[in-house]
Amino acid sequence: MAHQIVIVLDFGGQYNQLIARRVRECGVYCEVRSYKTPLSEIKALSPSGIIFTGGPASVYLESSPTISEEIFGLGVPVLGICYGCQLMAHLLGGKVTCAPASEYGKTETYYDRSGVLFGAVNGLPEKAVTWMSHTDYIEKAPEGFRVTAHTECCPTAAMECPEKKLYGVQFHPEVNHTEMGSDIINSFVKNICGCTGDWTMKGYAQTAIASIREKVGDGKVLLALSGGVDSSVAAALLAKAVGSQLTCIFVDHGFMRKNEGDEVEAAFKDSGMNFIRVNAKEQFMEKLRGVSDPETKRKAIGEEFIRVFEREAKKIGKVDFLVQGTIYPDVIESGTGDAAVIKSHHNVGGLPDYVDFKEIIEPLRMLFKDEVRALGRELGLADVLVDRQPFPGPGLAIRIIGEITDEKLLILQDADYIFREEIAKAGLDKDIHQYFAVLTNMRSVGVMGDGRTYDYTLALRAVTTTDFMTADFARIPYEVLEIASSRIVNEVKYINRVVYDVTTKPPATIEWE
Ligand code: XMP
Repeated sequence: MAHQIVIVLDFGGQYNQLIARRVRECGVYCEVRSYKTPLSEIKALSPSGIIFTGGPASVYLESSPTISEEIFGLGVPVLGICYGCQLMAHLLGGKVTCAPASEYGKTETYYDRSGVLFGAVNGLPEKAVTWMSHTDYIEKAPEGFRVTAHTECCPTAAMECPEKKLYGVQFHPEVNHTEMGSDIINSFVKNICGCTGDWTMKGYAQTAIASIREKVGDGKVLLALSGGVDSSVAAALLAKAVGSQLTCIFVDHGFMRKNEGDEVEAAFKDSGMNFIRVNAKEQFMEKLRGVSDPETKRKAIGEEFIRVFEREAKKIGKVDFLVQGTIYPDVIESGTGDAAVIKSHHNVGGLPDYVDFKEIIEPLRMLFKDEVRALGRELGLADVLVDRQPFPGPGLAIRIIGEITDEKLLILQDADYIFREEIAKAGLDKDIHQYFAVLTNMRSVGVMGDGRTYDYTLALRAVTTTDFMTADFARIPYEVLEIASSRIVNEVKYINRVVYDVTTKPPATIEWE
């Protein structure tokens, strides 16, 4: 794996992942490391460039994250962003203080395009919008640095010292709101770091397949397939690498969307692996009889899932490797486990405790979600699997409020299908990050033909989000809602009213349970 690599040193900024994604979008491999990483480790990676992220602290406080000045002497280009830029200024003798006025959000920025970083950005205007988020600012850049951008409130919105290969920007080029922000990152990694863009999914697939083959040898591999993007792509990759040594167990709990179980089966049945679909709906329904509390439902489904999986896995006997669909955001975020539990998540990837195996394989560990999708396409997976929106482990069971019955499941599957179909027809499916129907437990009076009805209310939910931690409701045109609503009440029995959920997260969550 002789890729060029750029290291993103994380100083606690909220956009660390976004920076890494932007770098990879330039075709340059990149990893996020803590600012505490020893210099020797950084050197050993032979990075082509280093990017310091933003962070919430003030550089002049004793306890603030910092780094040895030696990093500036490695001869490796460094780009400091926000806090990273202030830290560079502070460590090299500039002056950072609390700004007389903070800048938050979109800010007009004036560029000096004769600088090295900005000069190489084709079409960068003299004045453009950047995204700012800072209360401190660089009052005076260090000796030898030249200021290459400013705003009304910020005298040093960017600085550089090309002789030492050091660059800094106060704004966030990684955020979409910064006009030509991606081009600025591209200029840094390509023109200044000299990266050629040697990171492709085709190359990744080849390397991953070869290294999986080497690791697995003639061992047996087990994978829990949920039908979600991550486990599907992991399955396709492992199937290519070790074929019949792989067994995938797909526990169909019966709460999948309409046709979904069959789609998953169709995608993998003929892939050369051993594919086992366990139709366990009755078993799950049995466990959920009389249960209406959301957490009880989630726990019951999670436990039953493990039981079914374990039973099937035992039939295979001893396995050597268990595959998990961990992706890079999980890796970056791990270790921050002190947030309150809002919902107990059921993730089919994590089953190491109940199956006897030697080692875990995580083939997607270094990939972002969009890269996982690109890899899936590279491996020939159908769009219906690769483009699948996130779907909770407990499935439609947590989109049926109250007790689950066979009838409610069918109602929801049909209504949800129509909604998704209309969103796709309207061409909104790429812009809305998650959209689905929820069967509320409420019934109300309606009139159909000449008769009174007393049927269910269906809620439609559609959100836009970058990280699923916060979300906004999607501004779907009324015309699209109208068609979906009219089709649903006409085509799905027992629904006589459709409502649209216009709540953000927080205070609501994306799912209703
Ligand atoms: P909430 O409802 O917490 O959902 O705003 C955030 C995102 O997580 C998904 N979700 C789950 N994903 N197992 C999963 O793998 C789960 O148990 C689960 N519950 C919620 C949800 O669909 C949304 O994308």
